[in-house]
Amino acid sequence: MSQDARPGERTLEEHHSCMQLVDAVEGAINVEAAGTGWLDQLHGCLTKLSLELGAHFERETQGYLFQELPARFPRFAARLDRLGTEHSSIITGLSGLLGECDQVRSGTDQDRHKLCGRVQLLVSTIRRHEAEENEILISAHWDDLGECD
Ligand SMILES: [Fe+2]
Repeated sequence: MSQDARPGERTLEEHHSCMQLVDAVEGAINVEAAGTGWLDQLHGCLTKLSLELGAHFERETQGYLFQELPARFPRFAARLDRLGTEHSSIITGLSGLLGECDQVRSGTDQDRHKLCGRVQLLVSTIRRHEAEENEILISAHWDDLGECD
């Protein structure tokens, strides 16, 4: 494991790569079309995102953001508790969407359209979630710098 140049830097980098996978999921729902070929694309993107996020959540829960940071800056503890709880609901949401991809193959266009709406909602949740974590990491970094003055 590489050493962080500053605490939480690896988490920020992982957020960046997770956001690229989120963009790919969003790209897949934007090409929603007649037929079901795009569903394979969506399923593949959701699978990659689910695997990457699962590993990311595990690493960050054991790392600086969820361990050292709230001990040092207790004002972030309650938000981090909420964000930590949200990890499992995001993973559960992704696995539900993967199951739905299979179900809507034999469904109607309206079923597939509703699936896209649910994907869009979870994509928004993931973006907001990781942005909140970034904000906490960056705020704590600036607090750190302030202490050095
Ligand atoms: Fe994160």
